[in-house]
Amino acid sequence: MAPNEPLLPYEWPGSYFIGEEEIEAVNQVLLARSPFRFYGHDLQHFATRLEAIFRERLGRQYALGVNSGTAALSISLAAMDVGPGDEVLVPGYLWVSCAAAIVRAGAIPRLVDIDETFCMDPADLERKITSRSKVVLYIHMSGATGDIAEVVKIAHAHGLHVLEDVAQANGASFRGRRLGSFGDMAIFSFQLNKNMTSGEGGMIACDDKMLYDRAVAVHDLGYPRNEQGRLVTDDPDMQLWGQGSRMSELTAAMAWSQVQKLDTITGSMRKINHLLYRGLAGIAGLRPRRVLDPDGDSGAFALLIWPDAETCQQIVPATRAAGVTTGPQGINNVMMRDWGLHLYYNNLSLVHKRGLNSAGRPWSDPDNAFASDYTYHKGTLPQADDLFSRTSLLEVPPVMTPEIAERVIAIFRDCAARLGL
Ligand SMILES: Cc1ncc(COP(=O)(O)O)c(C=O)c1O
Repeated sequence: MAPNEPLLPYEWPGSYFIGEEEIEAVNQVLLARSPFRFYGHDLQHFATRLEAIFRERLGRQYALGVNSGTAALSISLAAMDVGPGDEVLVPGYLWVSCAAAIVRAGAIPRLVDIDETFCMDPADLERKITSRSKVVLYIHMSGATGDIAEVVKIAHAHGLHVLEDVAQANGASFRGRRLGSFGDMAIFSFQLNKNMTSGEGGMIACDDKMLYDRAVAVHDLGYPRNEQGRLVTDDPDMQLWGQGSRMSELTAAMAWSQVQKLDTITGSMRKINHLLYRGLAGIAGLRPRRVLDPDGDSGAFALLIWPDAETCQQIVPATRAAGVTTGPQGINNVMMRDWGLHLYYNNLSLVHKRGLNSAGRPWSDPDNAFASDYTYHKGTLPQADDLFSRTSLLEVPPVMTPEIAERVIAIFRDCAARLGL
């Protein structure tokens, strides 16, 4: 292999496992001519079956398939009655969808710092809670979690709901309990970058019947449905506004096939992830991300914290030049500062407080005047800013072999030695 030939496979974990099972399931839907989940010629009930698997995996009362993780966030916030006058606490390491869902609800995002787990810092959460806080949107970033149990404890002590975003950590757990089973509600995404995929798609899980019923109505047309899949409009408590985010049976069939492979996918990634962390640990000054429960890590990412920004800015280009990259479509082995809309201050709609339309809401809403001095530019979260400036990120696809991992480790060690680390 030429020294600078890309060494890494593309980073779309579930895609490598698309096979006969997915083809068979999707074909079943097509042959039955029944791609709509609520009625059809010969409904195959894949959405219902997928939801049952999620309920069982998570030990949850309710699960609801939807058409994306972004939609799942919006629907969950609507179910929890979030709107103008409310703030939602969200960490500075996030995805644009998280801020978008809060703003679209008419509410205000309140940034919370992260710690070396790269998830919400419980101590900063305590500091940031105000009388306007309604929901803590806790995001399990980059495949693993921080102290979710502590965050739930703090939130509940203040009477706040917790919405877990498990989009990036499907299949991961914390001290023996699956992520997605801690908060009052949880969301998942099945987009291509995720641990299991149906191209698009998502899931909402919860235990409270009222939250579930509201989510069902909002994800659809604002009303519940009867056994025949027809809308029921006469319940005064369930006359809401829907957003047309139903899961199709085609998506459900694919996701149903993929979820059965999820533990195999995360198992493969975790094994390589541990190999990488162990192998890189010998580099002086390099600290891996703090993973509180390595056995619960989905393994999809390795985050490397370098002693300073300068070292990070030298090591990443050097290792990339030596082949630690993917092909042209991939994003891997990057400095975190280049990790796009995952960093709060790269979300310019947020930094500039762009409104939903020219009237400027939610920022201009008198109910949200309490947030007039909230800021979102770089400098707002000192711990996040420091970590972003000196951390690099490796994605760990499930087809990364131990041989590739060893080669990656050797290149990092060699480049670090040449930089005098
Ligand atoms: C943390 C997080 N939340 C939400 C989403 C949104 O999911 P989707 O792309 O399915 O809308 C994503 C991924 O895209 C994500 O990474």
